[in-house]
Amino acid sequence: MMGFPMGNMRSRAFVIEPLVNADAIHLAKLHALTFGQPWNEDEFQALIGQDTVFGFIAREEGNRAAPPGGFVLARLVVDEAEILTVAVAPVSQRRGLGHALMDATLRHLHNARAEMLFLEVDEINTPALALYRRLGFKQVGKRPGYYQTADGRSAALTMRRDLKQVR
Ligand SMILES: CC(C)(COP(=O)(O)OP(=O)(O)OC[C@H]1O[C@@H](n2cnc3c(N)ncnc32)[C@H](O)[C@@H]1OP(=O)(O)O)[C@@H](O)C(=O)NCCC(=O)NCCS
Repeated sequence: MMGFPMGNMRSRAFVIEPLVNADAIHLAKLHALTFGQPWNEDEFQALIGQDTVFGFIAREEGNRAAPPGGFVLARLVVDEAEILTVAVAPVSQRRGLGHALMDATLRHLHNARAEMLFLEVDEINTPALALYRRLGFKQVGKRPGYYQTADGRSAALTMRRDLKQVR
């Protein structure tokens, strides 16, 4: 468990912990706040139940019943992993939670001796792109027109993080 104090006295403090089955309902609610086509509780339940899937959640310190600040869900098969989704509640964004969740994932994969971590991101998702680049992800592919946006279509960028590199 990693303690994660926020910047000022009025902010909530979070701890990063492994996801458990009972979190599915919270993930669905948080996903609906952050994505246009959210996954429902059953879909999260099914994913968390898979042997290859793992993830982390940001829980409010001392108040486990409070809505989580964010979560990340990933899949590891043999030595290659992928980020399935990562989301931070709008009220808790830009305070380091996304970075802390991704960092927990990288540490987990490093301990599991994984070689590569992949993800796909919308080319117009500036916050996510900035976060991933900061964490050492490099673009390795592009799927034009993959996402539907309000004013047309945008590409999905495939990004890769070499887990063998010195951190
Ligand atoms: C992407 C997301 C998870 C980032 O979470 P977050 O907790 O706000 O990110 P952090 O505070 O940890 O930011 C870490 C770094 O990412 C970058 N970043 C995050 N938000 C940013 C923004 N709005 N604009 C520019 N850079 C941003 C910065 O480099 C930041 O470091 P800094 O604050 O020291 O400059 C969050 O914006 C989110 O949930 N978005 C909606 C869901 C989504 O798009 N998920 C990714 C799908 S691929």
